[in-house]
Amino acid sequence: MQAIQLCIQAVAGAGEEVLLPTPAWPNFAAALGIMGAVPLSVPMQFDGQSWTLDIGALEAAVTPRTRALFVNSPCNPTGWVADKSMLEALLKFARKHNLWIIADEVYNRFYYEGTRAPSFYDIMEADDKILFVNTFSKNWAMTGWRVGWISAPPALQQVFENLVQYSTSGVAAFMQRGAIAALNDGEDFLKTQIADCHKGRDLVCDVLEATGKVRLERPRGAFYLFFGLPDFPDTMELGIRLVDDVGVAMSPGEAFGPGGAGFMRLCFARSHDNLLDAANRIAGWLGSQS
Ligand SMILES: Cc1ncc(COP(=O)(O)O)c(C=O)c1O
Repeated sequence: MQAIQLCIQAVAGAGEEVLLPTPAWPNFAAALGIMGAVPLSVPMQFDGQSWTLDIGALEAAVTPRTRALFVNSPCNPTGWVADKSMLEALLKFARKHNLWIIADEVYNRFYYEGTRAPSFYDIMEADDKILFVNTFSKNWAMTGWRVGWISAPPALQQVFENLVQYSTSGVAAFMQRGAIAALNDGEDFLKTQIADCHKGRDLVCDVLEATGKVRLERPRGAFYLFFGLPDFPDTMELGIRLVDDVGVAMSPGEAFGPGGAGFMRLCFARSHDNLLDAANRIAGWLGSQS
């Protein structure tokens, strides 16, 4: 989160705009807001099968005050993953408008079609204006440690050194040692986490799909299922009812900006017993609503 904040500080001042494909993790827009920068939401489309981001919609939204584009792939909340051709199209768009890309690839290992999700690293030139943010919170489940990193062009080294110096002045040494241990010895743990999430994804998708009452794309990455409920357009109200009636908490799609209403986000980074229990309760409840 701090990496995101520092990137915004580096590239977008008060009144300047940053393109934000939505549904998106709400902290992006909030982090822009506290800097006085303006999020330009660009809703992605769900056609019943898959989520897509339309470059034409980004073209329509960009203005002379736009400085950057957020790209979160794999995406929280939709599980959307930009494939190589999409990344190329986004990079071409950013180059054309001289925008920075803030690439949030924090879920890059939680990719269910290969060992890691396609990345801007795979296609970029050395002088491309891309800021990568990453964290130990997801791949290594070290959320409470508060350690992350930025990868930026060398020309920005002093800028980020200053921004860190005048905020936290750095990550505490013992936390850095924990992060080093994760990098050196964490691969087996990580593989187990990914396999568990993969299975958890399929468990909940199977149960919910069998109800015939949801629309979903089996998430290709990250660990959230974002499913549509055509019979329940007010998912904020639905979220509260599900907590009250069956004791299952999910995030209503409205929380993720334009394009999110009518969907619920379920986190499947949980034990399989928990997930099956929750999915069955939701399915039973949906079945009881005629
Ligand atoms: C897309 C995305 N980026 C960044 C973060 C923040 O990670 P951290 O807890 O390490 O600040 C999250 C956490 O949920 C996230 O979903």
